[in-house]
Parts: sequence; C-alpha cells; structure tokens
Amino acid sequence: MKYFRMPLVGLLSATLLVAGVGTATADDAPQGSARSGTAPLRALADRAGLRIGTAVDMAALADDTAYRRMVGREFDSVTAENVMKWEVVEPARGTYDWSGADELVRFARERGQVVRGHTLVWHSQLPGWLTTGVADGSIGAAELRSILRKHVTTEVKRYKGRIQQWDVVNEVFEEDGSLRDSIWLRELGPSYIADAFRWAHAADPKAKLFLNDYNVEGVNAKSTAYYDLAKRLRAEGVPVQGFGIQGHLAIQYGFPGDVPENLARFARLGMQTAFTEVDVRMILPADAEKLATQAAYFRGLLDACLGSRSCRSFTVWGFTDKYSWVPGVFAGQGAATLTGEDYGRKPAYAAVREGLMEGR
Ligand code: G3I
Repeated sequence: MKYFRMPLVGLLSATLLVAGVGTATADDAPQGSARSGTAPLRALADRAGLRIGTAVDMAALADDTAYRRMVGREFDSVTAENVMKWEVVEPARGTYDWSGADELVRFARERGQVVRGHTLVWHSQLPGWLTTGVADGSIGAAELRSILRKHVTTEVKRYKGRIQQWDVVNEVFEEDGSLRDSIWLRELGPSYIADAFRWAHAADPKAKLFLNDYNVEGVNAKSTAYYDLAKRLRAEGVPVQGFGIQGHLAIQYGFPGDVPENLARFARLGMQTAFTEVDVRMILPADAEKLATQAAYFRGLLDACLGSRSCRSFTVWGFTDKYSWVPGVFAGQGAATLTGEDYGRKPAYAAVREGLMEGR
C-alpha cells in the first residue's frame, strides 16, 4: 500500500526529545503516579476520557513476558493484530479456530480492557477456500453473499457483549475515492457494505460498528468518500456508528493536513471517531531528529483525537519495534512504534504520555 502525506506544519517540539525518555517498567499492575512519570498510559488516558489501545500479537503475548506485562499495564483497549481475521478463524470451510481470539478476549476481561474487533469484511487475509472457490466459479454470487452473512453473524455473535467496537468493513476505498476492486465489489456490488453493517448490528446491537481505513487522517478524496458513504448509509438507517482512522504515517511523507477538520465533519454526522492503528515509520537508521519528528506526529494525531469529543479511542498498531509489521512490508523502514526492540521508551512514548496528561 502507498501512503501520501502533506507537509508538517509547526508540530515539532524540541522538548519531546528529552522528556521522559527511559526504560519501560515491566509491571502488569496499572498503578503509579503521573508526576513521578510511573503512571501507565491507561491511567492517564482514563483521566482524559479516552481509551488507549494497542494491537496485540498473540504469539508475543504467549511467549514474551515483558510484552505481556506491558499490554496489561499500559493499555485499556486491545485489538487482535491478526487472530480475528477470516483466514485465521475459518481456515477450512466450516472449520473454525477461535483459540487466539478467545484468548485475547479472556486476557482483556481479566485486566479490565475493552476489545476492538478487527476485522469482518476485508479484501485481504481471506481464507484460501473462499478465494479459490470464487476464482474457479464453484462459489457463485448468491452463495458468496450467504457465506459472508454467515461469517459476520457467527463471529459477531460469538463475542456478543464483549467487543466494544467492530471494524465491520476495512479498506473499501481507493485513494481517489472510488470503491476498491475486491471479490465483494465484483461479485456482490456495493450493497455488501450496508448488508455487512446490518448483519453485524443484528448479531450484537450494542457493539459500535466502524468503517476503517488508512490515508484518511486528513480531508482528502478518500476520507471524503467515507464521509459521503457514512452520510448516505446513516440517512438510509444503516447502523454505521464510527469512522476508524488507522493512522499509519511515515515521516518522509509529512504530517497530514486538516485532521481536526476531518474528525469534526464525522462528529457532525453524529458519529464516533477513533484512531485505530497508529504507527509512524521512518527510513532506517533512526536518529534523534527522526525520532523527534516521529514523536511530534504521534502527538499530532493524539491531540486531534483529544480535541474532538467524537474521538473515544486511540490505538497504536503495536507498541514495540520488536514485533512491528513495518520492516516486513516496507524494506529499509521501521522504528515505527513507541518503544524500541528492548522496550526502551522513545520520545514518542513521552509525547503520548504528555498529551494524555494535558488531556482534552
Ligand atoms: O500466521 C502465519 C504463520 O502461520 C506463518 O508461518 C507465517 C509465515 O509468513 O505467516 C503468518 O501469517 C502472517 C500474519 O501476519 C501473522 O504473523 C502473514 O503472513 C502476514 O501477512 C500477516 O501480516 C499482517 C498484515 O496485516 C496482513 O495484511 C500484519 O501482521 C498486520 O500487522 C497487518 O495489519 C494490517 C491491518 O489488519 C489493516 N490495516 C493495515 C495493517 C498493516 O498492514
């Protein structure tokens, strides 16, 4: 995927370079004092009326004690990085594997965390039996629609009452605002989007249902396509309650313009907003200047969220470079998260911490 950015205007703060840089505490208990710098992010977020979340890599959660402790200590919202995706939960037709998703939901409940469900309808990480069946014609349009309905209903029902926000449809627009070519659009036409929201709502009427995408932080053709879609769906009574802004930024492309204005227009529709997958990558190697810019970008998105009453949660797409998806996809890039591979806090961690302390 490609990410285009507009130039950064006045976000860099030299103080971010020095403030609060230190080593993360491996303590699963969300305690500590804000003034001494030991209060976890979730305690500060709570005071600011915000959920602070992270994507969770279930293999790391099982194998890495420091990782597990930090997920529990620092965050009050979790998102499955992969284990709620279709290819994982239904690897063979009619054969389900809920083990990872169940484990995350249980982990969260024990720690008083909410769960963001990610994701029900996507063009990527589909099971092989489904893509092959559509490609060879053995699964036709009518059957595909009923397969999709069953998938959405089965997964949402399984976690009914335990998922706060569901990313119902993920990444359905191209950069120019046209609908993305996918098996869903090709076989079912654009009505699959409204159908998915209706099915999800029927399965768990209390879950907040989100559209979710990248490169939609600011006002642009893609975010405007979402705005128009949301407006139309809501006018038709389709249960769409939230707009999820992933927030995968890269310092070499600049900071997106008009982020507060973008949040405000969705708020005016009566919708919630959320930052759902924030990370800020850079061309390696990292240095002090790049890390300061990264910190300012994290802070820029967080401040936009804190500045809008519609924005209820701010989720990072992993909190340690040790398990970040970035280097595997963007060769030569990385260092995209709040802490290093050794969990040492970067200026970005301090920036998020300061932002939460300042509050709304
Ligand atoms: O689970 C298999 C494992 O069994 C196998 O041995 C291994 C070999 O490559 O692959 C494993 O699956 C990988 C999976 O991550 C779990 O590690 C997939 O190959 C790999 O493609 C997958 O990448 C994920 C990616 O979505 C898939 O598109 C990333 O971890 C995940 O961070 C990323 O997350 C997406 C969001 O869902 C949507 N927004 C963009 C974001 C970043 O791309």
